[in-house]
Parts: sequence; structure tokens; C-alpha cells
Amino acid sequence: MNNDEIQLIQPRLDMEHPFRDYINAFTSDTHIAGLGYLDARVHNIPFISAILQTQQAATGQAGQHDLTPRTTLWLINTQNQILGSIDFRHNLNGTRAVWGGNIGFSVHPNHRRKGYATIMLDHIKQCAKSHKLTRLLITTDLGNIPSANLIKNCGGKYDTTVNVPERNLKVERYWINL
Ligand SMILES: CC(C)(COP(=O)(O)OP(=O)(O)OC[C@H]1O[C@@H](n2cnc3c(N)ncnc32)[C@H](O)[C@@H]1OP(=O)(O)O)[C@@H](O)C(=O)NCCC(=O)NCCS
Repeated sequence: MNNDEIQLIQPRLDMEHPFRDYINAFTSDTHIAGLGYLDARVHNIPFISAILQTQQAATGQAGQHDLTPRTTLWLINTQNQILGSIDFRHNLNGTRAVWGGNIGFSVHPNHRRKGYATIMLDHIKQCAKSHKLTRLLITTDLGNIPSANLIKNCGGKYDTTVNVPERNLKVERYWINL
């Protein structure tokens, strides 16, 4: 892989079409992790608002929308195709401390097993250090083998498995020391 051909960027207003292509690459019943405020199933706001909230949330300021401080990034190639998306929540508030964790991520179904998730996670580890975090909680639905393997590959140490009644599933919790 030539890493010169990929880069991590902040979500941009001029990339609505590549973003739609990314979403459409997933089957409609799949929850797409790592989109942050761009996750229409959760936030359901127009693209322009989601981009503005994403930019504001990255500064760590709650602003008028009471935003969660978070850093959402896209991995793109030279054709501006989105290959992956990662969302780093700076704080472990509420259910995040139990099952949500600090990070969500996804990679385009046609671009898996190329190391892209690893690249995104490595970058967020550095980003978290710059936010003075000493460890990251990463969770994954029980049975999501690709995700669990990825987390362990990136230094995740298994902690516990918890029930998430509101989602009717179990979630594995891992810590990555920074
Ligand atoms: C999990 C996911 C992000 C992995 O992305 P990826 O770019 O393919 O991951 P990488 O290429 O960096 O893989 C790194 C390691 O993870 C593990 N891994 C990744 N995909 C795997 C798979 N299908 N089966 C088993 N292990 C897998 C392997 O250990 C791999 O190392 P290797 O290729 O040297 O064996 C991707 O499968 C995905 O988007 N899944 C749907 C969304 C999701 O489940 N997100 C996690 C919940 S927040």
C-alpha cells in the first residue's frame, strides 16, 4: 500500500457526493459506525448542519447545540473517495463509559483488509494523547470478529462483556493504554 495516496481529513461540505457513495456502499440495514454527527440515523440533520456540528465538536466546545466533543475524520484517496470513517469521543460520559466507548469506526466494504482501520486507529491514538488521555475504551458488539481482532491487533486489552438491554445485545469492552 502506498500511504502517499491516502490521507485523513475533517469532513468537508464539498464532499456530500463522496459521503453519499460511502453510505450507499453499506447494506441499508447496517449501522455504519464512526460517522459522528453525520450519522443520519442518530442525528437526522441536513448534511450542511452535520458538517458544521462536526467542525464545532472537534474544537471541544459544546456551543449552542450542546455538542459532544468529538473528532470525526474520513480516510480518503486521491480521487476523494471515502475509504473509512472514524469518530473519537473525547469524554466517556454516561453510557459511553459502559458500552459506547471512545471510538467508532468503519471501512468501505470494498476496501477492507488493507490496513485502513489500523491507520485510522493509530492516528486517533496520537490524537487522544494530545487531548491528554492516557487510555481509550473501545467496545464492539459480541461476535463482531473483524472488529475484536482489529482492536486486539491495535493493543486493546479485554476488560469485560456487558449487556446492553436497550440494544438487545452484548458488548465487549477493551482498553488501549496510550
Ligand atoms: C472492523 C473493520 C473496521 C476493519 O477494517 P479493516 O480496514 O478491514 O481492518 P484492517 O485491514 O486494519 O485489519 C487489521 C486487523 O484486524 C483484523 N481483521 C480485520 N478484518 C477481519 C476479518 N474480516 N476477519 C478477521 N479479522 C479481521 C485482522 O487481525 C487484521 O490484521 P491482518 O489483516 O493483518 O490479519 C471493518 O471490517 C468494518 O468496517 N466493519 C464494519 C463496521 C464495524 O464493525 N465497526 C466496528 C464497530 S465500532
